[in-house]
This record gives sequence, C-alpha cells and structure tokens, in this order.
Amino acid sequence: MTTRPVPFRTPLPTALCGHNVLVLGGSSGIGLAAARLLAGSGARLHLVARDAPRLKAAAADLPDGTVATSWTADVTDETRLIEVFDRAGPLDHVLVTAGAAARAPLADADRERAHGAFDVRFWGGYAAARVAAERLPAGGSITLTSGIYTVRPVTGAAAAIASAAACEGLVRALAVELAARRVRVNAIRAGVVDTPPLRRRLKVAEAHPDEADAAVAAAGSHLPLGRYGTAEEAASAAVFVMANAYVTGSVVTVDGGQSLA
Ligand SMILES: NC(=O)c1ccc[n+]([C@@H]2O[C@H](COP(=O)([O-])OP(=O)(O)OC[C@H]3O[C@@H](n4cnc5c(N)ncnc54)[C@H](OP(=O)(O)O)[C@@H]3O)[C@@H](O)[C@H]2O)c1
Repeated sequence: MTTRPVPFRTPLPTALCGHNVLVLGGSSGIGLAAARLLAGSGARLHLVARDAPRLKAAAADLPDGTVATSWTADVTDETRLIEVFDRAGPLDHVLVTAGAAARAPLADADRERAHGAFDVRFWGGYAAARVAAERLPAGGSITLTSGIYTVRPVTGAAAAIASAAACEGLVRALAVELAARRVRVNAIRAGVVDTPPLRRRLKVAEAHPDEADAAVAAAGSHLPLGRYGTAEEAASAAVFVMANAYVTGSVVTVDGGQSLA
C-alpha cells in the first residue's frame, strides 16, 4: 500500500531575526521561497534578479517592511555586484539561487556552449562569493545551489551538471579559505523541485493552475515520496545552513530520496 505524500511543514529558525540577507535570484522559485521563510524569521531582505517587473512583483508579495532593498543585476557582472553589495549596506548572509540549467547533449555542446552552462551558476556564484567574502562579518555565510544530478546524472546535461559539481567543490574550498574570517560557505543540493523551470519543462507554465498542478502531481508520482519537492522545502535547507553557526563546507541534500531511487 502506498501512503499519500506527507505535507510540508516549515522549520522556522529564530537565529536569523534582524539579520540582513541578500538573495541573488530572489524573484522566483527557491530564492523567492527562501525570502518568504526568512521574512517569517524576522530577517531583512535584499533581493537581486535581472527582470525588473518580476523582481518588483516578488518584493510586493513579501510581508510589508521585510524587503529592505531590491536590485536588478546579473550575477555574472562582478562590477554590478560590487555596486549592489555596497549600496545595500551591511549584510550578514548571501544566498545564490540564480541559475538556469541550459541542457545540451555532448554532441551539440561545443566548448563555447558548454562554457555558457557555467556562466551563471558557477561563475555567478564565484563572483558573488568574491564580493561577499570581503564584506561579510564574522558569523556571516554564503550559500550556493547545486543539484542531485551531480551524484545521479541524467543524459544530455553534462556541462550543466559539471557546473553544479564545480559549485560543490568551490563551497568546500572556500569554507576552508574563509574559516579564518569566520565566514561559512555551504551549498544546498536540491532534487527536482516544483518551480517555474519544471513547469516550463512539463509544458504547463501557461495552463490553468488546477490543470498545471495535476500535471505536476502526475509527473512526480513515481518519485520515492510520491511528489516533487516544493520550493519551500529546498529553501528551508538554505535557511538551515544560514542559521546554524557550526555548519560550513557542507552540501545539504534535500531531494526526497530522488538521488537514491
Ligand atoms: N527547480 C529545480 O528542480 C532545481 C533542482 C536543483 C537545482 N536547482 C537550481 O536551483 C537554482 C534555482 O532554481 P529555481 O528552480 O528556483 O529557478 P527559477 O524559479 O527560475 O529562479 C531563478 C532566479 O534566479 C534569477 N536569475 C537567473 N539568472 C540570473 C542572473 N544571471 N543574474 C541574476 N539573477 C538571475 C531569476 O530571475 P531573472 O531571470 O529575472 O534574473 C530568478 O529570480 C538554479 O541554480 C537551479 O539550477 C533547481
């Protein structure tokens, strides 16, 4: 007999109350869900994404008074990131969820195209870490995003998967390098999560919400826990590594067992 999926419950840490958190990728999906959890924990938010209307809508959707600043910026532009960090004011934590998995089979991915798969997730994370490392106080943290395909690969996405694996390596190296400054560096390794990219992949992004929800539920029903993860579940792992002052160099998997099945 198969038991119905257990609904999500939020573990809200109080450790982040009053902390300033910059979310690079905060207008959608896991980043926006993290912003919502952090707002509920009493953190002050600084949101970054490229698309201005979507960013404005995300900020307006969060509880009143929780979004201190929001900025349009591309994480691959280090000069712009420096400007954002300096204008946002003192920050305690930085979460990077900016990224999109541009998939291509090996035969179609020449070096230039494969390089493109690293641009946002890896080099964006690298640039953000470089800018953050000099500015965060002792006790601050940097959190990057990878994915379970690093340990359970699928075909046709080698460069994208390699870029996520590179982020995990970067996190471990920076955790060692920045430990002396008492800045922690971690990553969350998410399984497939129900966010806009999944809905686009399932071709239900424009469908009626009920129809889209049903299609997502059907597509995820074969997974170990009977469904895809929620953005909140992935985001809560990021909030956990941010809040726990003894976690560094860790890659926290939140995948509902997807990497095992
Ligand atoms: N969803 C999943 O199943 C899953 C699983 C494992 C790992 N991940 C990884 O988790 C991260 C977040 O995924 P998601 O599903 O939450 O995606 P999403 O809903 O598309 O959100 C991505 C966010 O990043 C921003 N962004 C993208 N490129 C950017 C850039 N160059 N500079 C600044 N901001 C940028 C987007 O806004 P703009 O487009 O306006 O810039 C948006 O706010 C990605 O790295 C993804 O690969 C996702």
